[in-house]
Amino acid sequence: MATSSVKIIRNKKDLRAQVREWHMADLKVGMVPTMGALHHGHLSLIREIQKHVDKVVVSIFVNPKQFGPNEDFDKYPRSETADIKKLDEVDTDLLYAPDVGEIYPEGFLTNVSVAKITEGLCAAKRPGHFDGVTTVVTKLLLQCLPDVALFGEKDFQQYTVLKQLANDLDIPTDVMCGKLIRDDDGLATSSRNVYLSPEERKTALEIPKTLKQAIEDIESGALSMEEALAKGTQHLLDSGCKEVQYLEIRQSDNLDPITTTIAETSPILARILVAAVVGKTRLIDNMPIKIFF
Ligand code: PAF
Repeated sequence: MATSSVKIIRNKKDLRAQVREWHMADLKVGMVPTMGALHHGHLSLIREIQKHVDKVVVSIFVNPKQFGPNEDFDKYPRSETADIKKLDEVDTDLLYAPDVGEIYPEGFLTNVSVAKITEGLCAAKRPGHFDGVTTVVTKLLLQCLPDVALFGEKDFQQYTVLKQLANDLDIPTDVMCGKLIRDDDGLATSSRNVYLSPEERKTALEIPKTLKQAIEDIESGALSMEEALAKGTQHLLDSGCKEVQYLEIRQSDNLDPITTTIAETSPILARILVAAVVGKTRLIDNMPIKIFF
């Protein structure tokens, strides 16, 4: 029977000892934090970080603090055996899979919170979500102390928040953004895509198509930003999305709104970002866009 070559560690003491040993040997360590249910988007992040470091730690922890009371924490897909097989396929060095007590021991009272960038977009419908993410990622980074950590571009607001967090708290880790990976039909990869029925998946494909159409409408000058966003929202609803939580354009580097007062820097490198509900599944996506004034 084939055995896994991925080393598995479940407590911070052993994780720290292993990373310290690698650092003593002058090896650069990278971390890819995940909640498991690994798909080819995650595997692409692992391959990407391998280009920058000598050893890769992947963490799997389904973080209860970032799910709201009516969200899918209980049914979030968990598949450690399948995940370990995938980690093996891409030569991951170490899986860190702590249990909830290792991350949030009894008596845990601390909350890590980043201001401003955590307002609006995903935060509007998911109060407390980003505090859950920033608290757990602070813990994971401090437990591992990697030189580099990679977060997927699909969660672009999350990546922007986590870069700010590491910078503000002097966490000695370079937070990088890993390329958004799409399935062959164009849907952004996500662990939640398994919830979609074939019919819902057809509806979900309208999400990236809508982003592309809005980019074309705006960059060609055919429509104003406001007109293109209104058209995109209506199209998603007409295509069967239950709800469009947001379809917005923000500045790329800090997610500030686009205003004409920044027009001297035209074209502005921006992001068009969307969250829409298909059936019971909330999906997000984003793409870069140039705004000319
Ligand atoms: O993007 C995710 O999978 C999670 O939000 C993260 C960064 C692993 C924190 O739990």
